Amino acid sequence: MQEFTVTPWEVSGQVDYNKLIRQFGTTRIDGALRERMVRLCGGDEPHHMLRRDFFFSHRDLNLVLDDYEKGKGFFLYTGRGPSKAMHIGHLVPLIFTRWLQDKFKCNLYLEVTDDEKFLYRREYDWKEVQKYTGDNILDIIAVGFDPDRTFIFKDSEYVKNVYPLLMRTARKITGSTVKAVFGFDDSTNIGMSFYPAYQAIPTFFEKKRCLIPAAIDQDPYWRVQRDIAEGMGFQKTAAIHSKFLPPLQGISGKMSSSAGQETAILLTDDEKTVKNKINKYAFSGGQATVEEHRRLGGNPDIDVPYQWLDILFEPSDAKMKQIHDDYKAGKLLTGELKSILIDKVNGFLKEHNTARKKAEKTMEQFMYKGKLAKSMWERTYE
Ligand code: TYM
Repeated sequence: MQEFTVTPWEVSGQVDYNKLIRQFGTTRIDGALRERMVRLCGGDEPHHMLRRDFFFSHRDLNLVLDDYEKGKGFFLYTGRGPSKAMHIGHLVPLIFTRWLQDKFKCNLYLEVTDDEKFLYRREYDWKEVQKYTGDNILDIIAVGFDPDRTFIFKDSEYVKNVYPLLMRTARKITGSTVKAVFGFDDSTNIGMSFYPAYQAIPTFFEKKRCLIPAAIDQDPYWRVQRDIAEGMGFQKTAAIHSKFLPPLQGISGKMSSSAGQETAILLTDDEKTVKNKINKYAFSGGQATVEEHRRLGGNPDIDVPYQWLDILFEPSDAKMKQIHDDYKAGKLLTGELKSILIDKVNGFLKEHNTARKKAEKTMEQFMYKGKLAKSMWERTYE
């Protein structure tokens, strides 16, 4: 098996998710746990990302469901480190989080880490990061969270409400911990060494248990939180982890904004760009010629358009099965599969952009004036 790397900043190689579960010490989501979630959601179909094993691993999800059943409830927390335009991979945890919020009717805290990206990328200046931050927040709101139950905050702005708690947290995390967990060394700037304290803070916002939906690259942060939480009088956070939406070029690594514009579909891409990128770059599991394809069929397991439909764009299992079977049998050609995806992505982005326009008007609700947001600004954490 090919070697792979998964850190919050880099994913490369073909990830062996079973091996990763063992390396990270997390737990696989099995059929029983999935069924329990469905039961608690009132028997509705689980989201296709859960049904199709894309959200595949967890920490303490069973305890979250225990708390929910006992009526204690829980809250959600996720986040985004703003960089230029967001890509469709960033929407994966957000769309799933929205589903959880809809089903379980719980509060959601969404941390936007303008500090983290500034510290990590030497070439960014503060003003530039602030611009991306504003843009990214509109994309986040466009996903459709509940304005009464969601608080979206920017680290540099909310810090005044949490500074004492942040200090209390930072005091618990040593240099050797961040070196061991994140691979930092003596050349890492001290801002980066400090930052993991801030990513833990939202897990302390309520007395209830916190559940974090995110791709598994963020898990090292939760390990640090789980080491220190109980000693500080809080609960260990729970997490639910997704796999990675692959880049256009093939199923290794993850879609990432730093890997180059032609590897990702950006939320700002227009219809023509989407069509060109998919036609030109999307790695296909089809055969070299139409004749061979008709004879031998395609391989959906390594086909990026197929994988993107499965993960994100085609919720109907019946339609996915038809696409799968037709592709394998050589009835559906690579160009036809790509054009199904192009239509789906363009339809999706059109709706997203309409919602994004509306978000300009509702941004204040999510950040300052909504029911939860207002109450967060009225309190401080020690
Ligand atoms: P960031 O901005 O790198 O990523 C935002 C979220 O998107 C997920 N993600 C992906 N998921 C699936 N496929 C991909 N190709 C893909 N690329 C990125 C990430 O796992 C993440 O959930 N440090 C964080 C910001 C943060 C945060 C959090 C994230 C602060 N608090 C709590 C999650 C939960 C960051 O830079 O994320």
